[in-house]
Amino acid sequence: MDLSSLETLKNHLIYYIVIREYEQKLEDSKIMTNIFAVILAAGQGTRMKSKLYKVLHPVCGKPMVEHVVENIQTLDVNRIVTVVGHGAEKVKEQLGEKSEYVLQEEQLGTAHAVIQAENILGALEGTTLVVCGDTPLIQPETMKALFEHHQAQNAKATILTAVAENPTGYGRVLRDANSQVAQIVEQKDATEEQQLVKEINTGTYCFDNKALFEALKLVKNENAQGEYYLPDVIEILQKQGEIVSAYICDNFDETLGVNDRVALAQAEELMRARINEKHMRNGVSIINPLSTHISADAQIGRDTVIKPGTIIEGKTIIGEDCIIGPNSNIVNSRIGDRTTVQNSVVTDSSIGEDTAVGPFAHLRPDSQLGNHVKIGNFVEVKKSTLGDDTKVSHLSYIGDAEVGSNVNIGCGSITVNYDGKNKFKTVIEDNVFVGCNSNLVAPVKLGAGSFIAAGSTITKEVPEDALGIARSRQENKIDYAKKLK
Ligand code: UD1
Ligand code: CA
Repeated sequence: MDLSSLETLKNHLIYYIVIREYEQKLEDSKIMTNIFAVILAAGQGTRMKSKLYKVLHPVCGKPMVEHVVENIQTLDVNRIVTVVGHGAEKVKEQLGEKSEYVLQEEQLGTAHAVIQAENILGALEGTTLVVCGDTPLIQPETMKALFEHHQAQNAKATILTAVAENPTGYGRVLRDANSQVAQIVEQKDATEEQQLVKEINTGTYCFDNKALFEALKLVKNENAQGEYYLPDVIEILQKQGEIVSAYICDNFDETLGVNDRVALAQAEELMRARINEKHMRNGVSIINPLSTHISADAQIGRDTVIKPGTIIEGKTIIGEDCIIGPNSNIVNSRIGDRTTVQNSVVTDSSIGEDTAVGPFAHLRPDSQLGNHVKIGNFVEVKKSTLGDDTKVSHLSYIGDAEVGSNVNIGCGSITVNYDGKNKFKTVIEDNVFVGCNSNLVAPVKLGAGSFIAAGSTITKEVPEDALGIARSRQENKIDYAKKLK
């Protein structure tokens, strides 16, 4: 090997080492910014006066704690640990794989709750976000801003605060002469003067993970409630000379803590307005947002109009150019483009495109309507499929039926699906015409293209293209009416 190629090799080697070092540093810095989240959800929620555990109370159809976990999921966090206690199994069932869990057997306070996560998080380097399971309105952007403030301040603890018009019930943030956060004092421990403070603890914090678990060991329960308070960690770290900071959320509404049913209704109202605004900004017309309730998980296409008094629940998906309402309730259903649902109830069903439902129709679970279908007033459909272009325009019951396309079901016709013990199926093939006021006694099949005479009670299969007629013949008694008068 000549000298110059040896030189080149050396340069390559140096280059390689420099790159490795850089990569290592990058790797380390990544570890430094590990983010963990702890969600406090073990409390009973005594003030709710409810059989349902507090964090499972829904806001816009979704349990409070699920809002919190899903908001955190949108952030780049490494692990989410939920502290469960009261109703632990129910909370776990609700959140499933979205979180890891630790059990707080006895609810000795919020600091005690966080300590339960020590086995999972205690040894790790990083930043830990702690959020209460009863603050469903705090937006991910706010948590992110809190985190960034915490990093920028190089703080060991940063508390998310807000200014409340009526701070009653919240922990108050006490600042020292330099306006630095010194201490949080709970409502029940606050002096009259401290109670005048309007800056409150929102119950959301960022901590240096190791500092958090060290400080938690020092928290005592000498206070009005005999509980281990998480906010005491702030004072402990501050007294140790660590940097403790506060980030003020400028919108108190976001930080509302739900402890009772009054706050639950406030949270519902705020969340409803937020959801409605999101849809309006996405191109949905909502005629009267105050009377329109849309679940957190619903999706609605552009140029759809939602009329007053409409409640859209669960994981409903509505297409474009639909008209929904007035006064309709759509639950966990799918509705295709250009469909109208007027004054009707639709549950666990799917409706195709260009279809009209209502007014005053009821689609019960497992109903599937095709495209260009018409379901008119006072029609009930249950566990049935209806093909394209089929019409059931007035006063009918269609249950446990398989109805083809281009079928016309006349006014007042009924599938007689129940004998008091069992349910039976009705099959109506394509292009069938069912005359008014017919009873189709299941199990029964109407062949394609068949025609059922009005007023028939059909108990036997009607072959393809046949006329099914099952009613007594009319007899006219001449001049007999005169005798009756
Ligand atoms: C807490 C704060 C208060 C703050 C307010 C914001 C404390 C001591 N106080 O008060 O400063 O202004 O939140 O909303 O932290 N939990 C457990 N285990 C327990 C106790 C509570 O998991 O042992 C959970 C609860 O389920 C709840 C959360 O922690 O989700 C907060 O507890 P809660 O009793 O509602 O505290 P607040 O009185 O609202
Ligand atoms: Ca609370």
